[in-house]
Amino acid sequence: MKILGVDVGGSGIKGAIVETTTGDLLTERLRLVTPSPSTPDSVAKTISELTKSLKYSGPIGVGFPSVVHHGVAMTAANIHRSWIQTNARDLFSQVTGQPVTVLNDADAAGLAEMSFGHGAGQKGTVLILTVGTGIGAVLFVNGQIVPNLELGHIFLKNGVTGEKYASDATRKNKDLSWAAWASRFNVYLAQMEALLWPDLIIVGGGISKKEDKFFKHLHTRAPLLLAKLQNQAGIIGAALAAEKKLSF
Ligand code: BGC
Repeated sequence: MKILGVDVGGSGIKGAIVETTTGDLLTERLRLVTPSPSTPDSVAKTISELTKSLKYSGPIGVGFPSVVHHGVAMTAANIHRSWIQTNARDLFSQVTGQPVTVLNDADAAGLAEMSFGHGAGQKGTVLILTVGTGIGAVLFVNGQIVPNLELGHIFLKNGVTGEKYASDATRKNKDLSWAAWASRFNVYLAQMEALLWPDLIIVGGGISKKEDKFFKHLHTRAPLLLAKLQNQAGIIGAALAAEKKLSF
């Protein structure tokens, strides 16, 4: 099926029409700047613009950077706080006039990576982390998703949350060298491994474009791979979720 997938991030709202049987993007990937403040109305308007620019009608999948409980945004770490308790599914359906499925952005990216990326066919426990403005996390156990995990907000031994300590936004804000950032991310990875003992870890999100800068500095017990779909996983997974009308 051809479905519009949208990935709402802290700095950009990206979308493309996806062929869900192959995971291929059928159009260019459009990127609009995330409005500031990123209130429900302004984000909804941007998604409606994106839909119009692609001249699209049909089901839409949206990956959203918060806990999404059956279409309702429950948290707001990197988006405007007025999102909390907003029914994102109803709002986006209203402004676009199309049926919309909304899910957590890392959950969306994970679905794509498990279908068309390095997670395909992987048994056991697979941990997928998306690193960008925040740190998103999703776990698959024998292919079954464990949604809305919010492991970016786990406290490390230094008393700081994983996301505050090791997101890509922190790297940029603190002007950290890649090696310095990677040593922070290694602390986070070690904590994840101590708690979850994954068989495979996949790192994606905005940072995955810079593989050559940091990947060599990362160390884990489990095999560690860079997301095959890189930063497009969120768009592709959102479209997959819309096709199946997933609701967590
Ligand atoms: C949010 C998560 C999201 C992650 C990546 C975190 O701040 O709490 O819901 O998946 O950022 O965008």
